[in-house]
Amino acid sequence: MAYHVPVLAGESVGFLDLRPGGVYVDATFGGGGHSRFILEQAGSQDLRLFGFDQDEAARANALKDSRFTFVAANFRHLSNFLRLHGVARIDGLLADLGVSSHQFDEAERGFSYRFDAPLDMRMGTGGGTDRTAADVVNHYSAEDLQKVLGEYGEVRNARSLALAIAEAREQVPIATIQDFLQLVNPWVRGSRPRYLAQVFQALRIEVNDEIGALTDLLAQATDLLIPTHGRLSVISYHSLEDRITKNFLKTGKPDGTVTKDFYGNIDRPYKVLTKRPVLPSAEEIQQNPRARSAKLRAGLRR
Ligand SMILES: C[S@@+](CC[C@H](N)C(=O)[O-])C[C@H]1O[C@@H](n2cnc3c(N)ncnc32)[C@H](O)[C@@H]1O
Repeated sequence: MAYHVPVLAGESVGFLDLRPGGVYVDATFGGGGHSRFILEQAGSQDLRLFGFDQDEAARANALKDSRFTFVAANFRHLSNFLRLHGVARIDGLLADLGVSSHQFDEAERGFSYRFDAPLDMRMGTGGGTDRTAADVVNHYSAEDLQKVLGEYGEVRNARSLALAIAEAREQVPIATIQDFLQLVNPWVRGSRPRYLAQVFQALRIEVNDEIGALTDLLAQATDLLIPTHGRLSVISYHSLEDRITKNFLKTGKPDGTVTKDFYGNIDRPYKVLTKRPVLPSAEEIQQNPRARSAKLRAGLRR
């Protein structure tokens, strides 16, 4: 099975506006689909490409090309790792957020409700957290669980489910996906696959602190991208991530706070290149259903 089929590859790499001698970062290397596309587009141009992934398993896909370097690290430490490689400024940064199909399809990683395995869901150990999904469901307070389920999963009955989890774990700790499913099943509302996908997504985002990692990444992008031509291209699959990216491109701040310089001029570190998010075509979605929730936004560092 393919490790991962890249989503919006042409569009997202197109925004990077590759140039000879440039330094580029693929913050979410995974199966290397976007990185491979970058090198293909560059042809014989001499450039440098760093592929980051916090999952060591992605290293197996590292590209055999002298222009490419794989970095096994969480992208929230981007600047530090680039500095270790002698890089202070970059020409383009691409991020294709979330999990890869490979991670999702590996039963023992615990990302999917289709399998039975320990409730884990950690994407990697390179600077992320050591907390597993089992830790979240067994130790978070009902209020915190409700928040995770509601905010990250948009689970409609987040409060009822959170209370049910808090009560059930008093009897026996929740260790596996099947333990968890047994307790979630009575609370499913609407389509079961959709409901479970939302619950699992919520836990995954919390376990990997995905929102924190994205805001850390963006905070570094502004200093790293070379003014007047550095490009940022972000593909997200979750409304919160898309909102953060949109706000960031507008104001340079993940929460959209407007800041002004000494003279009262509004800071706008980016020129927004996507007035609306770019979405995959119906054809792409048909060929790769995992593309269906993708939204691409891009900006040019002013
Ligand atoms: C959607 S996949 C990327 C797929 C890739 N673009 C391709 O075409 O094969 C996301 C990848 O990013 C990695 N990832 C997610 N969050 C990360 C983070 N904070 N730091 C480093 N890697 C991360 C995951 O481990 C996963 O391999």
